[in-house]
Amino acid sequence: MTTILDGKLTAKEVRARVKEGCAAFTEKTGRAPGLAVVLVGDDPASAIYTRNKGKAAKKCGMYDVHHHLPADTPEADVLALVRELNEDARVDGILVQLPLPGHVDTDKVIAAISPEKDADGFNPVNVGRLWLGQPAPVACTPLGITTILDRYEIDVKGMNAVIIGRSNIVGKPMAALLMRRHATVTVCHSRTKDLPDVIRAADLIVAAIGRAKFVTGDMVKEGAVVLDVGINRLEDGTLCGDVDFEAAAERASAITPVPGGVGPMTIATLLANVLTLAEARGE
Ligand code: GUN
Repeated sequence: MTTILDGKLTAKEVRARVKEGCAAFTEKTGRAPGLAVVLVGDDPASAIYTRNKGKAAKKCGMYDVHHHLPADTPEADVLALVRELNEDARVDGILVQLPLPGHVDTDKVIAAISPEKDADGFNPVNVGRLWLGQPAPVACTPLGITTILDRYEIDVKGMNAVIIGRSNIVGKPMAALLMRRHATVTVCHSRTKDLPDVIRAADLIVAAIGRAKFVTGDMVKEGAVVLDVGINRLEDGTLCGDVDFEAAAERASAITPVPGGVGPMTIATLLANVLTLAEARGE
């Protein structure tokens, strides 16, 4: 029997816990946990993501402030806004939506976010803390995946985990989190030799390549756990992941669907991160 890992349900549970935590925090401190979302430019997908993040924050009782800057905003102005938010007592978590326009140095902007207000866990100080095994906010998608693993009591200790994709947002932090849970981790990318064979040896697959149905059924070992980060739109308008779900589900012991798997966990985990940052800052 293959377990379908329900991210929608897990995210709902996380949001309910965050809502309770927000109420308790507000009761105790007289202010709600605060999230500031910064969007630069007019990328339509980013506009939807940021709107959804703000809506979700409000729904669980957070103070939510949205800054939408024009695409041609000078880098200095983006940095000035981030520094202003660092000083704003109502704000516990800052999120600068990526990608930023080309003339803005992403590394500089991320480094300017106070590590104690880094809702995404992208600041180099927090990336360092993660790799050292220290408490830190962690990137929402990979952290959300570990929440799914916990929810379904999947212990990765000793597993041969294969992550496909080495991005700063998913692949790298996922590797740190799985290593911390005592998996043996291989991070693959576009230049990995004999990639299908590497995937075939995996007890756990994290697919984060951004290519529809890249992982085919024959690449999935019998009994493997499959976590699909991809969201791809097919020509007929339907969504699919980086894994051929139907074929993979025949062999996997557990698998996330798309939609309704990893996707919903990202925003829920962001909210959990903001509450944790608020509790650490206190009043
Ligand atoms: N762009 C794509 N994913 C993310 C994310 O998790 N956080 C931010 N800030 N930007 C993104």
